Amino acid sequence: MAILKLHTYPDEVLRQKCQKVAAVDDNMRRFLDDMLETMYADKGCGLAAPQVGVTQRVIVLDPNPSDDDLSARQPMYLVNPEIIWHSEETVLFNEGCLSLPEQRAEVERFERVRVRFLDYAGEEREILADDLLAIILQHEIDHLDGILYIDHISRLKRTRLLHKLAKYNDEHAKKA
Ligand code: NI
Repeated sequence: MAILKLHTYPDEVLRQKCQKVAAVDDNMRRFLDDMLETMYADKGCGLAAPQVGVTQRVIVLDPNPSDDDLSARQPMYLVNPEIIWHSEETVLFNEGCLSLPEQRAEVERFERVRVRFLDYAGEEREILADDLLAIILQHEIDHLDGILYIDHISRLKRTRLLHKLAKYNDEHAKKA
């Protein structure tokens, strides 16, 4: 397995619409393994392919990405994920994203979603998700259409957040 390079805002790859995957073969499974390893290494609970520079409809996630108790981990691999139903009710959640390091903002999401996808073996599956899993799914599936969580917040909040991110990037670049 390998840790992949993370692409961060404002990298253009984050704004691309990703292509459907034709088949879940061994190459794809290797990529899924690398994505999961990259996600855990960067302490995320979800990662979408464009965040590692690949414009294919692939996400990995884990609502419980614990480092202390590896047996508690719940990794999921989703190829060509699609939201086929969502609740009317929405919830607010304070979201972050590995592509916008150290930033967070409150985002409104559907409380529950039903998602159809291909799993690690290439089998078609459906899950009905709520709580954190539903939020991660919506955030990661957005990435496949070039949408970032900052697109769901007010312009004022977005401007402030991007200003803080630019400052963080400056400081980070000086240290490196
Ligand atoms: Ni993200």
